[in-house]
Amino acid sequence: MTDIKKGLAGVTVDETAISKVNPDTNSLLYRGYPVQELAATQPFEAVAYLLWNGELPDAAQLAALRATERQHRALTDDVRAAIDLLPTSAHPMDEVRTAVSVIGARETAGISNVMDAVGTPEENLDRSVRLWAQLPAVVAYGQRRRRGEELVAPRDDLDYAANFLWMTFGVESDPVVVDAFNRSMVLYAEHSFNASTFTARVIASTLSDLYSAVVGAIGALKGPLHGGANEAVLHVFTEIGSAENVGPWLDEALAAKRKIMGFGHRVYKRGDSRVPTMKAALDTLVEHYDRPDVAALYDALEAQFVERKGIYPNLDYPSGPAYDLMGFDTLTFTPLFVAARVTGWTAHVREQQASNALIRPLSAYVGPNERHVEGYVPDAADLDAQERPEEAAS
Ligand code: COA
Repeated sequence: MTDIKKGLAGVTVDETAISKVNPDTNSLLYRGYPVQELAATQPFEAVAYLLWNGELPDAAQLAALRATERQHRALTDDVRAAIDLLPTSAHPMDEVRTAVSVIGARETAGISNVMDAVGTPEENLDRSVRLWAQLPAVVAYGQRRRRGEELVAPRDDLDYAANFLWMTFGVESDPVVVDAFNRSMVLYAEHSFNASTFTARVIASTLSDLYSAVVGAIGALKGPLHGGANEAVLHVFTEIGSAENVGPWLDEALAAKRKIMGFGHRVYKRGDSRVPTMKAALDTLVEHYDRPDVAALYDALEAQFVERKGIYPNLDYPSGPAYDLMGFDTLTFTPLFVAARVTGWTAHVREQQASNALIRPLSAYVGPNERHVEGYVPDAADLDAQERPEEAAS
């Protein structure tokens, strides 16, 4: 019997120097640095630089990256036109996916030989930076368009996180909010061979281009078992309403064998290393917005679910309500994850390209035995192939 590793659980498929997830010590390292140290001390731009280049930037390197990021912040006409073609009821993940397709087509226009689409390592670093820089405008415009609000132009005097909030809300955010948002971006940036990153690596392994890899990764991230969970957490909070309802709600949900979004993880089984940092950020927001009811519901659901199932929250559990308090629409949560994770995805695409092997696993066939179309008369080529089956198979 073939040994099938359903869902590739427990399978190590390659090496990576980008991040290390250690479920035994509950730790996550980006290029060796604990993620909570980075979240506490670094602007998201510096963490993006670290993921792409392997080291934190010095002052000049950070300034150079920030200058490039500022140059590409504004929503371009082609991307805006493409988004405007979509119904305002389209899911914003579909908007972001479409935007990346348009950016990719523009940036690789004129490459007529498919062998050149993959690009050089230097080209792909530049592409990664430009793509990352363009995404906040896409996400911000998406939310504003759904609300019937006008596009807000970027501000050159604000750093990445503050400008992202500015373009979304059209007002300057309080430093407490900017800090919490920056931390969430750092925490979401990278997480080894998760489903979307692996998707990006599979696409890169065919020598396709970086944009195609990111488009595929966005598709994988949309699912509620992956990135869509932060959005799903808010639906759960809305359903429950308040802390007093948690007990009866949970009785029903567990009796119906529902999966509770924001809990559980394929790798971490004793708690997600990123949760304490994001929970601390959520606590600052709860205080800032004076919303103890949110904290009460959060704590009650966590305590009762952990007690009954022994399954711990993942990063989406605190980030969902944090983004809600900041004023993001629930539908915008997963696109925010894209804006952060595009750094990790593109770092992985470049790592895959640097040491490539086509990713092509095997499957155990369980369909019907060989059979034939009624009335079909084999021709000479078929007979030839039957004699040399190993050559005919591909
Ligand atoms: N709510 C209820 N039960 C859960 C659960 C959850 N959130 N997460 C895991 N379980 C239970 C499963 O029902 C299963 O129970 P069983 O053995 O009685 O059938 C057991 O725990 C193992 O879960 P499984 O889904 O097989 O583990 P996995 O490693 O494949 O799944 C997730 C990991 C993330 C897909 C899963 O925990 C989940 O669906 N979580 C909710 C979605 C979410 O928050 N995703 C974001 C991940 S960062």
